[in-house]
Amino acid sequence: METHQTATKSVLQFRDAGKRFCTPARPDLWAVRDLSLDCPAGKITCIVGPSGCGKTTLLRLAAGLDDATTGQVVLNGATVSGPSQGVGLVSQEGGLLPWMSVEQNVALGLSIAGRSRADRRARAARALGRVHLPPEVSKSFPHELSGGMRRRAALARVLCSEAPVLLMDEPFGGLDEHTRRKLQTQLVELWTEDRPTILFITHSIEEAVMLADRVVVMGFATKTAEIEIDLTHPRDPLSPDSLDCQLKIRELLQQTRQPQSL
Ligand SMILES: Nc1ncnc2c1ncn2[C@@H]1O[C@H](COP(=O)(O)OP(=O)(O)OP(=O)(O)O)[C@@H](O)[C@H]1O
Ligand SMILES: [Mg+2]
Repeated sequence: METHQTATKSVLQFRDAGKRFCTPARPDLWAVRDLSLDCPAGKITCIVGPSGCGKTTLLRLAAGLDDATTGQVVLNGATVSGPSQGVGLVSQEGGLLPWMSVEQNVALGLSIAGRSRADRRARAARALGRVHLPPEVSKSFPHELSGGMRRRAALARVLCSEAPVLLMDEPFGGLDEHTRRKLQTQLVELWTEDRPTILFITHSIEEAVMLADRVVVMGFATKTAEIEIDLTHPRDPLSPDSLDCQLKIRELLQQTRQPQSL
């Protein structure tokens, strides 16, 4: 994949972005408020923060699935006003369509783009290989896979799209340690090859330090801190430098106050 940005250019920017939800139960809920954040080209930015602090809302704004109530989200210099081409999304639920085979799910973006069947099959096979799913799985349906395999298939789908910007919402959440570590390693390998710009949400501080160039710590509805992770890949989560970064992030998260309304 070609990315034409330099390492320092920001591909995705939140500029004082805010999102307010108005429901009967909570008529004035600011899920995200006055949040500014730059995601540099070809870098992995991880967001950590407590449940309900607005991480998924932030990602949905970036994906153009929701509109910002205030401020702006800017992608490649243009204000986001709907789903954009060149953006791959892995949702918190994985988002595989149950009535489609793994191959059809993985090649969904290519079908929408009108690519030929042969092209779709070839690209899907390559993407499945890259996440180490065996070829025979391509004809299976999502419910026939293990949780870890489904996560891999979701990762394969986003890779198949060859999107230069990847938005990933806890893509490895709820997996066992071993599978999670393998998928993290695969993601770093793929990122090393293609250098997409990644915005990755996780609850795991260790995962954030394994993956990120920069970790953004969120408190309720806003950003509270950013930490650069200047460690080479592959990273060892138990190295003194990794542990030091993890400790710093843990301390920052502990300083995050609960909102009175929760
Ligand atoms: N569509 C919606 N309508 C009303 N409120 C919403 C909506 N989506 C999210 N919220 C509220 O916005 C706040 C932030 O939600 P969000 O899903 O962004 O949190 P999160 O940080 O992703 O949490 P988690 O870590 O549990 O996934 C929560 O209080 C949530 O209830
Ligand atoms: Mg969420």
